[in-house]
Amino acid sequence: MTNIYQAVKVSEHVYWVGAIDWAIRDFHGYTTPHGSTYNAYLVMADKITLIDTVKAPFMDEMLSRIASVVDPSKIDYIISNHSEQDHTGCLWQVAELVKPEKIFASAMGVKALGEIFHKNNSIETVKDGQSLSLGNMDLKFMETRMIHWPDSMFSYLEKDGVLFSQDAFGMHLATFERFDDELAADMLEYEAATYYANIVLPFSAQVLKTLEKVAASGWTIKIIAPDHGPVWRKDLNFILNLYNKWARQVRVKKAVVVYATMWHSTEMMAKAIAESLAEEGIRVKLLNVDDAHRSEVLYEVLEAGALIAGSPTLNNHMMPQMADVMTYMKGLKPANLTGAVFGSFGWSGESLKDLEATLAAMKVEIVADTVSVRHVPDGDVLNKCRELGKTVAAQLNKRLS
Ligand code: FEO
Repeated sequence: MTNIYQAVKVSEHVYWVGAIDWAIRDFHGYTTPHGSTYNAYLVMADKITLIDTVKAPFMDEMLSRIASVVDPSKIDYIISNHSEQDHTGCLWQVAELVKPEKIFASAMGVKALGEIFHKNNSIETVKDGQSLSLGNMDLKFMETRMIHWPDSMFSYLEKDGVLFSQDAFGMHLATFERFDDELAADMLEYEAATYYANIVLPFSAQVLKTLEKVAASGWTIKIIAPDHGPVWRKDLNFILNLYNKWARQVRVKKAVVVYATMWHSTEMMAKAIAESLAEEGIRVKLLNVDDAHRSEVLYEVLEAGALIAGSPTLNNHMMPQMADVMTYMKGLKPANLTGAVFGSFGWSGESLKDLEATLAAMKVEIVADTVSVRHVPDGDVLNKCRELGKTVAAQLNKRLS
């Protein structure tokens, strides 16, 4: 094992012993231009406890960081807060190496780990609200189903006031800076928002329930230690308030005009719509899906009040790159959107029906008639596009005033 990695002290008894993935650029479909971290934490209690592990190729890095504090074979307990493989990919290898006395997970975690790894090792179930004695301190558990998987749970180390929140409050950001106060607030907000929009958004109802549950827990939380990105220790309300806002899907006077284009006809329409929205005081983001990754589109939609989608027709459907973005967006369930559809076509125009059906499935309130054109828009069609923009703007201004 290499010995180049060091643990980072998080609190009196807790060390960060995770791994930094500088190279990852795609996390199950979500582009991660700034890499990520897989955070694992070592609790130096009487029962030495490892909370979560890391993605399989990073096992040696984690073990090396642990070894800078204690011989890994001294680990007594491993807690799996979340079964996804970025946190459990090396769990069994680590267990075989360090031979912990016990491994713990939620009931759904035990089930998921069995289905993922097909090992017979016994994992003990911990329940919502249960405490686990580590000898001189306790860990408490809170189930947080669907943040991000059904197995997910938080662990809380009362002695140091540390909440281990697995995916919640995380971000995909590779840095040597381990704490929020070492990084710029606007970058933290951007990265946390991108993460929320691309991972957590469909589970917003569960986020709100979890925030209430944490508030009612009586836990004195001084540090939030997620499984990705920096540890929050300076201003916990910064991230808690952002989660509260994003989970309620609060909308602002902003429109996302997202489109594909073949011969620039749909693009001309998109620009006419965007210009008219901006003239009405709406903040506009114009995104050609050939340039904007689906993750960027979702980031922009996170707080937008309107979604206006356009595509030409290719082989009786919307353009495939537009279908990619719309399918991804539908799965992430943005709510409370106002919208409209536009596009050009050569002879049949099914893209418009595709987009209308997708927006309807997303429960987007369609507030303007679809604008379509055969081949290239003329001045009349572009005026209709401008009218579409003004109608959406008026609706947004009315709704959000
Ligand atoms: Fe970081 Fe849902 O795994």
